[in-house]
Amino acid sequence: MKVFLDSANIDEIKQANDWGLLDGVTTNPSLIAKEMKKGLEFKKILKSILEITPGPVSIEVIGTDYETMMKQALKVSELGNNAVVKLPFTTDGLRATKSLSDKRIPVNSTLIFNGIQALFAAKAGAAYVSPFVGRLDDIGEDGMSVIEQIKTIFTNYEMKTKILVASVRSPLHVLRGMIMGADVVTLPFDVLSKLPSHPKTEEGLNRFLKDWENAFGNMDFPL
Ligand code: G3P
Repeated sequence: MKVFLDSANIDEIKQANDWGLLDGVTTNPSLIAKEMKKGLEFKKILKSILEITPGPVSIEVIGTDYETMMKQALKVSELGNNAVVKLPFTTDGLRATKSLSDKRIPVNSTLIFNGIQALFAAKAGAAYVSPFVGRLDDIGEDGMSVIEQIKTIFTNYEMKTKILVASVRSPLHVLRGMIMGADVVTLPFDVLSKLPSHPKTEEGLNRFLKDWENAFGNMDFPL
């Protein structure tokens, strides 16, 4: 399973890359706007992200009609070989997904909330579908059950489209995604930084080091 960072913050993206945990990045208009409010320029933010990771970087259009979506999508795809056009799941979005996929431009179909939307996006040729699990949990549904549905549907119809678990709020979403066979999880930085740690790992390491210190004091590693 690939691990993407759901962020447009350059420091976070660099940090995740340094940890060796970054397979790609997803952004959305809210995440980009947060960085632009700090005075950073749209194109510069995107260029830096595309340079930090060789992995796929999803960049969302803001147009809502087919023509505007296509115009913006073509500009996005010119930014780099690893740019993926993110399109909202609407009828215009679906039409644009089909046109871009026909041109071999990869599309991430976003704001997916059920298996039917996911199958339609896949039929239009989307490279990724992004079901928002956290936002389903927020309204009292079990977001991860949608991932299970999509996995079954894509297996039934041999769809090649990758399932990208989005709107992830906790390590449990990640674990359940792994068990269900999701292709990608995209994580906010706070969830990513929680993933490698376990209190028993920390406790175990402290005990090893204490036992060593009790036996030998500050002696250097004897090799
Ligand atoms: O990038 C799309 C998605 O991951 C948004 O997550 O936390 O705003 O629901 P969230």
